[in-house]
Amino acid sequence: MSISDDFTQAEFAAKHISSKSPIRPTVAIVLGSGLGGFADEMTDAVRISYNDIPHFARSTAVGHAGQLVMGNIGDCPVVVMQGRVHLYEGYPVRSVVFPMRVFSRMGVHAAILTNAAGGINKEYGQGRLVAISDHINLQGQNPLVGQEDPNLGLRFIDMSEAYSRDYRRMAIDAGKRLGIPVGEGVYAAMLGPSYETPAEIRFLRTIGADLVGMSTVPEVIAARQMGMKVLAISCVTNMAAGTTDAPINHEEVLEIGKKISGQFKALLREVVPLIAKDVAQG
Ligand code: HPA
Repeated sequence: MSISDDFTQAEFAAKHISSKSPIRPTVAIVLGSGLGGFADEMTDAVRISYNDIPHFARSTAVGHAGQLVMGNIGDCPVVVMQGRVHLYEGYPVRSVVFPMRVFSRMGVHAAILTNAAGGINKEYGQGRLVAISDHINLQGQNPLVGQEDPNLGLRFIDMSEAYSRDYRRMAIDAGKRLGIPVGEGVYAAMLGPSYETPAEIRFLRTIGADLVGMSTVPEVIAARQMGMKVLAISCVTNMAAGTTDAPINHEEVLEIGKKISGQFKALLREVVPLIAKDVAQG
């Protein structure tokens, strides 16, 4: 697949998806590890397995259902990814961001990305929700590497407000209304899949990271290239390595995700209409 195929293939996949549902979403939501339950809130939902979408990669991570859900949240049409693919699964970065390319072709202008993350900032505790204010990309990869394709956007894109300040404020204010504390912090993206060493966590804290995870950043870069506005919310499923004596395990990450899913769903229910309204106002 040459890089210029991305656009054509995304258009093909977008047409395929749009043929399955009359919903015409302007907002996309990506649900991370253990956070997939939000999709159950949708009405008029049509579920499409990633296996049935042309050129989509299959998620192999436990806790990721691997299906796209088209439907409504309240009266907002949305497309939801129940599970994403990660670089650590061995997929090329272009496959990781392909869904974002497809959403852009479908007319989506805003993305809400969620993930499970380790808490580096000692003020966080397990289960804390944090709106990502900025990131540090330590994955050694970037989805814009390669032949430039003007159909997708510019090559040298500005990243000074990759995470919309307005959307962040909406999430924090919505949290206040609901009595759900929502923090703000910098997300460091690691390749994984091994969790970090305590020394790596000390390094990440020193360079200004509050959170650490293995996803989201490639999708944000691609979304920004295509002009989408981004809200990203981490759920602190565990304190990062060395911060406590406890070892980190994936089951716990999934468990905490499930435990706070009520809060998480409430927050998304509140924020989605605000973001949909922002998109409608252009
Ligand atoms: N490190 C990296 N990714 C993660 C973590 C972590 O501690 N927790 C959940 N995802």
